[in-house]
Amino acid sequence: MCEIFWWVIFPYITGLIMIVGLLYRYAFRQLSWAAPSTEFFEKKWLRIGSPLFHWGIVFAVIGHVMGMVVPKGFYVAIGITDEMYHFGAIFGGGLAGLMVVAGLIILLIRKIIIDPVRIHASFADFFSVIALLIVAGLGTYMTIVYNTTVVAYEYRATIGPWFRSLFIFQPKYELMTSVPFIFKAHVIAAFALFASIPFTHLVHFYTLPVNYPGRAPQQYRSRAQYKNKDVPR
Ligand code: HEM
Repeated sequence: MCEIFWWVIFPYITGLIMIVGLLYRYAFRQLSWAAPSTEFFEKKWLRIGSPLFHWGIVFAVIGHVMGMVVPKGFYVAIGITDEMYHFGAIFGGGLAGLMVVAGLIILLIRKIIIDPVRIHASFADFFSVIALLIVAGLGTYMTIVYNTTVVAYEYRATIGPWFRSLFIFQPKYELMTSVPFIFKAHVIAAFALFASIPFTHLVHFYTLPVNYPGRAPQQYRSRAQYKNKDVPR
C-alpha cells in the first residue's frame, strides 16, 4: 500500500497540482508570472550564482532526459556500454550537479546576508531555493558519492521505466520497490517541488525566453551611455 502511495498516487497528485496550479495562475494571475530581478540591490554575487545555477540546471535537465526518458535499449543499440554511460553520467552529471549546488548556495547566502535582497524576498522565494538545494544536493550526492563508493546504480532499469510508465497511465510501481533509499528520497522531493512551482517564482521555468531576439530593445539602460545623444534629459 505504501509503495502504491509513493509511486502511483503521489506523483499523479503532485503532477495534477502543478498542472491545475499553472493553468489557474496563467488564467488569473498572469501579471505575476515572472521572477523579478534583484540585480538592482546586489550585482556581484548574483552574476556568479545565477549563471552557475541556470547553466548547471540546463545540463542537469539534459542529463535527466538522457537517463530517464531515453530507454537503455537505445544506448545498447548504438554501442554505448554501461561503463561508458556511467562514466559520462558521473563526470557530466557530477559537474552539472556541482554547478547547480554551488550556484544555489551562493544565491541562498546572498538572499540571507544582503539586507535589501532579504527584505524583498518572500517565504516562497526562500522555499524554492531551499527545496531546489535539497533536491539537487541529493542528486549530486547520488551521482558523485553513491555511484563511486557504493555501486554505479542502474536507474535506467528501474526509475527510468517507472517514470515513463507514468505518462501512459500504467505506473509500474513495483520497479521502485528495490531502488536505494537516497534515490527514492530524491524523486519524492522532486515531485513535491513540482507541486510547489505554480505558487512560486519558479513558474518562469515554463516561459522560455524565445522572443528575446525579436522583442523591443532593453527596458533598462545606463543614463551615462546616452549623455548628449537624442534622449531628452
Ligand atoms: C526539480 C526536479 C529535479 C532536480 C532539480 C534534479 C536535480 C538533480 C541533480 C542536480 C542531479 C545530479 C546529476 C545531474 O546533474 O544530472 C540529479 C541526479 C539524478 N536525478 Fe534528479 N532532479 C530532479 C528530478 C528528478 C526526477 C523527477 C527523477 C526521476 C524520475 C530524477 C532522477 C535522478 C537520478 C536517477 C539521478 C542520478 C543520476 C546519476 O547518478 O547519473 N531527478 N538530479
